[in-house]
Amino acid sequence: MSPKQNITDVLMVGATGSIGRLAVAAAQRHGLRPRALVRDMRRAERLLPGVELVQADLEDTATLQRAVGGADAIVLTHGSGGDPETRRRVDYGGVRNLLRALDGARPRVALMTSIYATRSDIPGNSPWKRRSERLLRASGLPCTIVRPGWFDDAGPTQRRLVLEQGGTADGGIARDQIAETLVRSLLTSTALGKTFELIATEGGEQSDWTELFGVLKSDEAGSLDGVLDPADLPLEAEPQEVRADLDAVRSPHGTNA
Ligand SMILES: NC(=O)c1ccc[n+]([C@@H]2O[C@H](COP(=O)([O-])OP(=O)(O)OC[C@H]3O[C@@H](n4cnc5c(N)ncnc54)[C@H](OP(=O)(O)O)[C@@H]3O)[C@@H](O)[C@H]2O)c1
Repeated sequence: MSPKQNITDVLMVGATGSIGRLAVAAAQRHGLRPRALVRDMRRAERLLPGVELVQADLEDTATLQRAVGGADAIVLTHGSGGDPETRRRVDYGGVRNLLRALDGARPRVALMTSIYATRSDIPGNSPWKRRSERLLRASGLPCTIVRPGWFDDAGPTQRRLVLEQGGTADGGIARDQIAETLVRSLLTSTALGKTFELIATEGGEQSDWTELFGVLKSDEAGSLDGVLDPADLPLEAEPQEVRADLDAVRSPHGTNA
C-alpha cells in the first residue's frame, strides 16, 4: 500500500522532551499541524504554548487510541533514558502499544532511536531500541528510522549532515538538526523505508533533502533489521514476549516504503 501523500495532522510523541519540543517547532515551520501527546497537561501547556495537546501515556494502550485518531503521520522522540527495564516498558513498549492502538490505520512514521542502537559490543547497551525499530519495520507502516548521534556534541560550525548506515557511526549533532531531519523525512519520499545514523561534521547544512535521503540504501522488504545492520540479534534467541509482539504487529502489506 502506498503511504498517505498529504500529511497535515502529525502526532508528536515525546513532544515535551528536548528533541520533541524542537520537532513540534519544525513541524509548525513546515506548515504541518502538530498534536502533542503528553502525560501532564499543565506542564505541557507551559512548554508548548498554543500547541494542540492530547493526554495519553505510552504505557497505557487505552489512552493511545484517542491520541492516534486521524493522524496522517507520527513522530516518535520519546525516551526513558533509564535502566533496561524502563527501556523495555517505555522505549520499546511505547512503540508496541502505539502500533496496537492504530488498529489498522496506516500513518507515515518517523522514529528516533539512537546511535549505537545495534552495538552489542558496548557494555550496558540494551537492545530495546533496536527491538522497537524491528516492531515498526514488521508493522509494514511507511516509515523512516533516525538514529541520532550525541545530542549537541557538535560545535556551531559542524552543521554538515552525515547520514550513515550499518551501525558503526560515531559523533555528535545539534538537537535542532535531529528535529528537522525527522520532520523532513515525513515530507521527502526518498526517506521512505530507510534507517540511518545521523551525525554532523564541519561545514554548512545541505539543502537538498531528496538527495540526502536518496543516496541511502532502503531496508530490505520483510527484514526486521536496517539494511546494513549486523546480524547479531537472531530472532530465534529473542525473548518469547518479543517474538509474540512481532507476530502481533506483522503486516500483510509487508513493506515500509
Ligand atoms: N543524549 C544523547 O546524546 C542521545 C543520543 C541519541 C539518542 N538519545 C535518546 O534520546 C532519548 C531522549 O531524548 P530527549 O532528550 O528528547 O528526552 P527527554 O527530554 O527526556 O524527553 C523524553 C520524552 O518522552 C516522554 N515520555 C517518557 N515516558 C513516557 C510515557 N510513558 N508516555 C508518554 N511520553 C513519555 C517524556 O514525557 P514527559 O515530559 O511527560 O516526561 C518526554 O516528552 C533517549 O531515549 C535517548 O536514548 C540520546
